[in-house]
Amino acid sequence: MNPLPRIVGAETLDGLAEDDPAAMRSRRDLQRVHRVMGTRSILLGSLREWSLPRAQSDVLRVLELGAGDGTLMLRVARSLAPAWPRVELTLLDRQALVRPQTLRQYAGLGWTARALRMDVLDWAAEPDPPPGPRDSGPRWDVIVANLFLHHFQGAQLNDLLRAVAARCTHFLACEPRRARVALIGSHLIGALGANAVTREDAVLSVHAGFQRRELGALWPGRDEAWTLREGPAGLFSHCFSAVRAQGA
Ligand SMILES: C[S@@+](CC[C@H](N)C(=O)[O-])C[C@H]1O[C@@H](n2cnc3c(N)ncnc32)[C@H](O)[C@@H]1O
Repeated sequence: MNPLPRIVGAETLDGLAEDDPAAMRSRRDLQRVHRVMGTRSILLGSLREWSLPRAQSDVLRVLELGAGDGTLMLRVARSLAPAWPRVELTLLDRQALVRPQTLRQYAGLGWTARALRMDVLDWAAEPDPPPGPRDSGPRWDVIVANLFLHHFQGAQLNDLLRAVAARCTHFLACEPRRARVALIGSHLIGALGANAVTREDAVLSVHAGFQRRELGALWPGRDEAWTLREGPAGLFSHCFSAVRAQGA
């Protein structure tokens, strides 16, 4: 069977205002979709494999790109907080979607969370910040992207990955898996009660998703400086992680 070509199409949700009822409903659908995809467990499994934090007193600086309303990471944080007790979390998205209540829920876990409204391409185009205060290492300990990289292709995706590689020691992306099983799943998403926006975007997302070693092939870091892992996760996801070697 021929592999599915990668096709990046404009998703309906990205063109809707934050307070558009169809967009609000679609974001609620997404929380249900994550439960079916097992996203929380997939992210947790990867994050727990990393030997972080280094000491109880260290604050971990975590950035999520395209964080949406921040609720997926909150579900991850609830399980991760005992192992990662001190986290400064930045939730970047070009829409202002994070509710004050969500930030308070992070605070209840001991995490300091803030929402940063910004286009990620502007973030990537900024000059690389000077090294963080702790040592001469990069600005972020961890950058996470979930259902996000698939929005980009070509020079934009290259620029984004270059900025990520320059600014963190650990990177994890969990994206739609571009495979027939995921495509069938995306066509059945109406069974979850998803609205028309979610149903359409789910199919587009799979076509724009990743497979094989596609993200690793674009990763700009030198081979010896990074440990890369990439492959299917669950039925519907495709994960990529990059861990910088000590001192690299
Ligand atoms: C499919 S949602 C995923 C949200 C969240 N990561 C999750 O998995 O629940 C994609 C998110 O990316 C954001 N987004 C799309 N293009 C963006 C850009 N150029 N810069 C920043 N955020 C962007 C959208 O606003 C949306 O919240």
